[in-house]
Amino acid sequence: MSTTINKDYKMDINYVIHGDCYQELKRFPDNTFDLIFADPPYYLQLPSNKRLKRFDGSEIIPVYDEWDKFKDYADFDNFTLNWLTECQRVLKPTGTIWVIGMYHSIYRVGKIMQDLGLWFLNDVIWVKINALPNLNGRRFTNNHETLIWAVKNKDCKDYTFNYELMKEVNGGKQMKDTDWVFPLCTGTERLRDKNGIKLHNTQKPLKLIQRVIETASNKDDLILDPFLGSGTTAAAAEELGRNWIGIEKNKEYVELAKNRVSTLRNKISTRYGIMQSNKKEGLCPAEKE
Ligand SMILES: C[S@@+](CC[C@H](N)C(=O)[O-])C[C@H]1O[C@@H](n2cnc3c(N)ncnc32)[C@H](O)[C@@H]1O
Repeated sequence: MSTTINKDYKMDINYVIHGDCYQELKRFPDNTFDLIFADPPYYLQLPSNKRLKRFDGSEIIPVYDEWDKFKDYADFDNFTLNWLTECQRVLKPTGTIWVIGMYHSIYRVGKIMQDLGLWFLNDVIWVKINALPNLNGRRFTNNHETLIWAVKNKDCKDYTFNYELMKEVNGGKQMKDTDWVFPLCTGTERLRDKNGIKLHNTQKPLKLIQRVIETASNKDDLILDPFLGSGTTAAAAEELGRNWIGIEKNKEYVELAKNRVSTLRNKISTRYGIMQSNKKEGLCPAEKE
């Protein structure tokens, strides 16, 4: 599927680009996206020789992935500045950007965002229901991630915020930046190979990204995820009737995300087919209400 961005530019949408997001983003015109969700590398700096076990003896597989490695903070900051500069350029003045991260790097990312002139709306706290305990008892259990929510610059006032919807979701009370309580991605939602090994180490819960999309976009809006990973943003966008483009550097994850989307599309069309046949018989639940 393709869409017209402006009179000179037509582009494909609802697909995964294999490549480095900084390079790929340069190909998009200014002010293209209504919403950007970015889950960038964390630069966790975990010692790769350390093996941790849960209380039941099972091994914890931390994020040792190559994509999370940087030479030093300067290298990480330079990388962050590059992709954020491009994201700011391609974000519409009516759009918003969300960047998720943990204490290891979110403060650095936040500083760079502010230096670029991105204007913060909130720092939303995703409170995790089933976070991993702190196994050696040397500090608190880390139980949250932070999502910085920002507009392109200080003057952007007409951004999308579905305030009433969020209030409704929150049982009729104004939603707070800490009312974001979701479990980690586990169970059948977690993508695994036939031996039960996770296919992506940091797959985010669908519900979290659905909340982001429902908060800050409308149907048919165009969403960008520059670090698509297993394709969670694409899946959430497809479910909610938004358009999307995802960029991912690792070829295996590109295939994973593509397969995820195509399986989901089959499910959605089956669901839609069933809805249609129910409709004929006057049984469509949405219509009955
Ligand atoms: C934290 S993970 C994103 C996980 C994703 N939100 C999900 O739910 O599966 C970061 C991803 O960014 C990818 N990545 C790292 N550097 C990249 C770059 N320069 N351009 C595009 N993708 C990159 C990694 O391969 C990894 O899949």
